[in-house]
Amino acid sequence: MWRRVVSLPPLLSSSNSRRLNQVQVAYGFNASQVFSTQAEEGVSGARRKPFVTFVLGGPGSGKGTQCTRIVNTFGFTHLNVGDLLRKEIYSDSENGSMILDTIKEGKIVSSEVTVKLIKNSIEANENSRILVDGFPRSEENRIAYERVVGVEPDIVLFFDCPKEEMVKRVLNRNEGRIDDNIDTVKERLTMFSELNLPVIKHYSKKGKLHKIDGTGTEDEIFERVLPIFAALR
Ligand code: C5P
Ligand code: MG
Repeated sequence: MWRRVVSLPPLLSSSNSRRLNQVQVAYGFNASQVFSTQAEEGVSGARRKPFVTFVLGGPGSGKGTQCTRIVNTFGFTHLNVGDLLRKEIYSDSENGSMILDTIKEGKIVSSEVTVKLIKNSIEANENSRILVDGFPRSEENRIAYERVVGVEPDIVLFFDCPKEEMVKRVLNRNEGRIDDNIDTVKERLTMFSELNLPVIKHYSKKGKLHKIDGTGTEDEIFERVLPIFAALR
């Protein structure tokens, strides 16, 4: 599925490129060397498999915030799976009301729906570095992705945060989300422990997992994220 002819867009804006330079100085690497699967078009112009990072963590663990930092520093594209599902609710999609009910209850949407949305987004995206935020939420999600997309992620980030801290952040963030209330958060935490932790264990066994302490300020957490990408050289 990856052998499509594309021309790659510029990776970084000039301010991002300045930040990247600082990171390069700090860690002594060259961005073009970092991503082993970075799409460099071959003679045929065909696109290579993108470098896919799954980003996991409980509700309020800081996944989305850190994804924005990774995008700005390393030129990734951010696929926020919760956002993809929320967008479906407001489209004319036949699945809209099912997705709304599932999100309201803090449960997990069927992989058949979610994997299709992710696959379409990855294929529509010309960037060769992709962050998939909030997926896979369950072993069912993971297995369906591997079956449908046919490849595993290159690395997996897990933002590890105590439950009390996650609840505090979610209830304070005021983003107007229908599921950021105490009852739904409790269910989301239960789903996380029961369904997402086995996925995290799986990637740990495969040596793909990077567990990051998700406590502290946004800057402190990002300082823990930086060396992971620097080490991919
Ligand atoms: O990641 P985020 O917190 O935005 O996800 C919000 C909700 O979207 C989840 O609680 C869940 O109901 C749904 N979701 C899902 N499957 C995913 C990602 C999100 O069902 N892989
Ligand atoms: Mg999020």
